[in-house]
Parts: sequence; C-alpha cells; structure tokens
Amino acid sequence: MLKSKTILSAASKAMFGLILAVVAASAVAEEYFTITDGLLERPTGYREWVYVGTPVTPNDLNDGKAAFPEHHNVYIDPESWAHWKKAGEFREGTILMKELVNVGSKTAVSGNGYFQGDFIGLEATIKSKKHFPDEPGNWAYYSFSTPEHKTLTTEARAFPAAACNGCHAGAAADDFVFTQYYPVLREGKAAGEDATGGKSDLLASRK
Ligand code: HEC
Repeated sequence: MLKSKTILSAASKAMFGLILAVVAASAVAEEYFTITDGLLERPTGYREWVYVGTPVTPNDLNDGKAAFPEHHNVYIDPESWAHWKKAGEFREGTILMKELVNVGSKTAVSGNGYFQGDFIGLEATIKSKKHFPDEPGNWAYYSFSTPEHKTLTTEARAFPAAACNGCHAGAAADDFVFTQYYPVLREGKAAGEDATGGKSDLLASRK
C-alpha cells in the first residue's frame, strides 16, 4: 500500500515537473517569422499585429516614381510591441512589416487628399542577433514586392547591408527604425498603459 502511494506521488511529481516545463517553454519569446537556409517565408497574419503608422510618399510628389510607393502601412508583432511599451527598446526577434498601398483616389467627400487604393507590395525588417550577428544593429531587410506590383513572392533573401541598413542607420530616430514617423511607437516608448491610448488622457496631461 505504502509502496503504491510512493509510486503515485513520484508519478504526480513527474507530471507536475512536466507541466512546469511546458509553461516555461510557452513563456519563451515567440518569433513571428520563419527563416530557413537564409530565406524568410512571407509572414502572414500581420494585419492583425499592432499598427504603428502610415508614411505617404506619393508618386506625384516624387517625380512620378517614389522609391517605396505610396502609402506605407507599418505593423509590429504583438510581443515586440509589448516589450516596446514596457522597456522602450526593440527586443531580439522584433519584426516590422511595411505594406505598400497605392493612391486610389485624390478626392473624397471629406476633401482632396491621398486615399488608399490597392495593396502593391510588402517589405519586412527583423532584428535578430541570432540570425544576423554581422548585420549593422542586427537588423536585416527584405522585400516580397515584385516589379509589376501585382503579386508577392512567397519568400525573400535579405538585402546586402548597403542597400537598406545604411540609410536606416543614419536617418532613423531609434535603433534603425523610423519611429519619428510612427506616433504610436514614438509616444508609446516605455509608456506602459498610456501607450495603448488607454487609461490616462495623454493629450490632456501634456497641456
Ligand atoms: C534612402 C533611405 C532608405 C533606404 C535606402 C531604405 N529605407 Fe526603409 N525606410 C526609410 C524611411 C524614411 C522609412 C520610414 C518612412 C517611410 O516609410 O517612407 C523606412 C521604413 C522602412 C520599414 C518600416 C520599419 C522601419 O524601419 O521604419 C521597412 C520594413 C523598410 N523601410 C524596409 C526597407 C528595405 C527592405 C530597404 C532596402 C531595399 C530599405 N528600407 C531601404 C528610408 C530608407
């Protein structure tokens, strides 16, 4: 009797250990991308990540051909957002997506402007010491856009540092990311609950 009880308690201890291990593993930071043999699979689901802003470089203000046409909807993965609003830095494994959308209309009932038309491209940047120990800032840059802007590639290889990192390193406000153009990131840096637009009234408290 005593013996079977001992066995039982040993088994339940083992089970408890297993549960702890599973909980610990799920607490390990998640990566929202897959890189195999240097190729980044086109990430999916990013329109449900945290949206940080939309810079606009319309063709008609750029001699008819903006380098990245035209609206750029930028998203950050949710775990990196959580880290950003808590610690104010981009965590190992941060991924930002930049989805390109052309100008669909220049008039609306609200007035003249630049209104979003069709999706025409997709770019990504990832910070990872593990994957890119030699890239400046450990950031690598990718594009899934195609020349005709109608389809996307299913995978992409990182650009050489000179093509993308250089400009980001020199001109971006915070760790290679252009936070100066993303109010959600700029205002949300280490801002905790205020970063969400939540508890306190940011605009009122600034007055
Ligand atoms: C001449 C400077 C310049 C170069 C070169 C450049 N970028 Fe950027 N990039 C910017 C600016 C400015 C922004 C933010 C404003 C915007 O989107 O227009 C940006 C934003 C981004 C973002 C959104 C996240 C962030 O870091 O702000 C991604 C992703 C991105 N670029 C990818 C690329 C890729 C891929 C390349 C190389 C093919 C590249 N960039 C080359 C200037 C540059």
